[in-house]
Amino acid sequence: SRSPVLMPSLLACDFANLQQEIRDIEATGVHGLHLDVMDGHFVPNLSFGLPVIEAIRAVTDLPLDVHLMIDNPAEYAARYRDAGADCITVHAEVLDDPRPLLDEIRESGAMAGLSLNPPTPLETILPALPHCDLVLVMSVMPGFGGQEFDPVALEKLSRLRDDPACDALLEVDGGVNPSTIADCVRAGADLLVAGTAVFGADDYQQRVDSLNQLARS
Ligand code: DX5
Ligand code: ZN
Repeated sequence: SRSPVLMPSLLACDFANLQQEIRDIEATGVHGLHLDVMDGHFVPNLSFGLPVIEAIRAVTDLPLDVHLMIDNPAEYAARYRDAGADCITVHAEVLDDPRPLLDEIRESGAMAGLSLNPPTPLETILPALPHCDLVLVMSVMPGFGGQEFDPVALEKLSRLRDDPACDALLEVDGGVNPSTIADCVRAGADLLVAGTAVFGADDYQQRVDSLNQLARS
């Protein structure tokens, strides 16, 4: 049976204490970090980019799952790989044909991820599935943490899970919390991104343990 993996998103951590936040979240035993890169164009917000990812790489050995919410991922993917990304996810909405970029990411040695926003039909990514190591199903419009989970993601996850042409890992992102996490796993998610549900807690260990328990129940 599949064992789902929690991916804390640093977007919701205290950026003024980034290294300590990484230490604290590592201590809970998580298996990776989800890093949200925003450009103020593809999404109406800015977060952090290459220099911050390099700095994070220098202080942790955890796999870095980099989510590029940017207009021109083809111009930046190689640089995010050089900065230390282990997985690079790009958005279907900004790529006419994502396949060449996914192949380039794979050839660079990173895992290649393709994401789609809640309004984007699943059909748009089907031809690219053989080029994906991971599909990131958005359950909010990207740009901000702390939004409400959109169940349209569950239908996409189920359809991908049941599609014999899909052997990518399935990841879900946005509004994943103690009330929604079990539904995500049931629908087929392997990787569960959680920002505010983790970093909004007073006790990270307790929250990570309870999210893991709910995900495995
Ligand atoms: C949204 C980002 C998410 C965000 C999730 O634009 O892609 O990764 O950090 O935050 P929560 O878990 O608070 O919805
Ligand atoms: Zn994300």
